[in-house]
Amino acid sequence: MKTADNVEQIRDIVRFWRKEGLTIGFVPTMGYLHEGHQSLIRRAASENDRIVVSVFVNKMQFGPAEDFASYPRDFQRDCEKCQEAGADLVFHPTDEEMYQPDFSSFVDMTGLTEGLCGRSRPIHFRGVCTVVTKLFHIVSPDRAYFGQKDAQQLAVITRMARDLNMGIEIVGCPIVREADGLAKSSRNTYLNEEERKAALILSRSLTEARQKIEAGERSVSVIETYIKERIAEEKLARLDYASVVSWPDLKEKEVIDGPVLTAIAVYIGKTRLIDNFIISEV
Ligand code: PAF
Repeated sequence: MKTADNVEQIRDIVRFWRKEGLTIGFVPTMGYLHEGHQSLIRRAASENDRIVVSVFVNKMQFGPAEDFASYPRDFQRDCEKCQEAGADLVFHPTDEEMYQPDFSSFVDMTGLTEGLCGRSRPIHFRGVCTVVTKLFHIVSPDRAYFGQKDAQQLAVITRMARDLNMGIEIVGCPIVREADGLAKSSRNTYLNEEERKAALILSRSLTEARQKIEAGERSVSVIETYIKERIAEEKLARLDYASVVSWPDLKEKEVIDGPVLTAIAVYIGKTRLIDNFIISEV
């Protein structure tokens, strides 16, 4: 496995692969890889000839009061995880390599980015769309892999790739969970022992909500209220949002009469965690 911190190195390697007629799968990450990321790399490796992973903590998608500075970083460990999962090339650029001092071009999206996480993180998706567009231009993959844990991000990137004719297939992959149900996240490392236990309220409340829908409940407000009440029972938890919206166009609904995303964001202490489930048929 090769690593490169420079855009031109990546382009040269990818050009060489293309000349050989090889297909390229791409997994963009912010590093501190866990089994969730590795499942994306493995899926990419099963569907493409060569796999590129990027490891870049993208300052542009963090708000001023968010955790950019403290976001966990360990490039050596990331390389081991990439290699183990079948990556061929890891792109690990510096901030300066990605953003020149007079950088002034952005990719923005209306609609899909405004609800859910976009409400409390107003600049987040502009940062995500901009960096993912840059990475797509640098790597020029055939397919790119994103986890369903960031369901809104998956919907946004899929729409962006379509709207801007990027010619890249966006592949959504299932959430990977710990044995007790907590969705894997690099941010889980922020949790102390007590918070780690409290964090189970996310997956538990969602599992119960899913059971209600599967048992026939069709009212969005009943489901949202149920989740809010369950989360309020956990002392260390503070709800950001609990929403049931149409999938994949993320529109508010009153009745569950088609595919829906049920998504939550909850602070456990100072750590903001997200989780969700999608019901594709009712
Ligand atoms: O999902 C992430 O880790 C990031 O938002 C991404 C897609 C790598 C862009 O920085």
